Amino acid sequence: MPRAAYHYRFDEATDPARPPLLLLHGTGGDENDLVRLGRAISPGSALLSPRGDVSEGGALRFFARLAEGVFDSAEVIRRTNALADFILSACQHHKLEPRQLIAVGFSNGANIAASLLQLRPEAIDGAILIRSMIVLDQPAAPGSLVGRRVLLANGNVDPLVPLDQPPRLAAHLQAGGAEVTVKMLDASHGLTPQDVAAAQAWLGN
Ligand code: MLT
Repeated sequence: MPRAAYHYRFDEATDPARPPLLLLHGTGGDENDLVRLGRAISPGSALLSPRGDVSEGGALRFFARLAEGVFDSAEVIRRTNALADFILSACQHHKLEPRQLIAVGFSNGANIAASLLQLRPEAIDGAILIRSMIVLDQPAAPGSLVGRRVLLANGNVDPLVPLDQPPRLAAHLQAGGAEVTVKMLDASHGLTPQDVAAAQAWLGN
């Protein structure tokens, strides 16, 4: 079994040509939440889906926050490292290649996927970040994300994510060399069919 204490779900690939997906749910979700989304955007991919290990009044997340949109960098860094260690160990256990793994994160899950790219890029290859925001306000290390692709899917009427944040997060990832696509959708904070279509198109499906 992989080290680290995440409860997780693993669905084997039925089409090994598809990239494995790392599913990272939003606040209050669990490891089953994004399975339908993962299957819709990349049918046949292996799915590695950990359950957030931080409880906010019973709602599971991947790191604690001080308030809505207010984060403690030390906590985010610690949890990001723990998740990266889990991913590497789970990849070894399930015979996945981390450099093929595409993170698909929603809200809090998208935020920790962005932190993985900023701090531990060896744990994933690229990411689909749905409704991500600025959590670690720092650029990725120069050269650390060369050859990586990232999709940011944000809503233009999202009360939780100020409109300046998607381009700022894109710039932080581009500073590491990532190729970043920003899609501003007619959407609020919730997942929409436009997100599914944007993710499918970005994956080339
Ligand atoms: C959430 O509700 O999960 C926030 O919008 C994102 C976060 O706190 O990471």
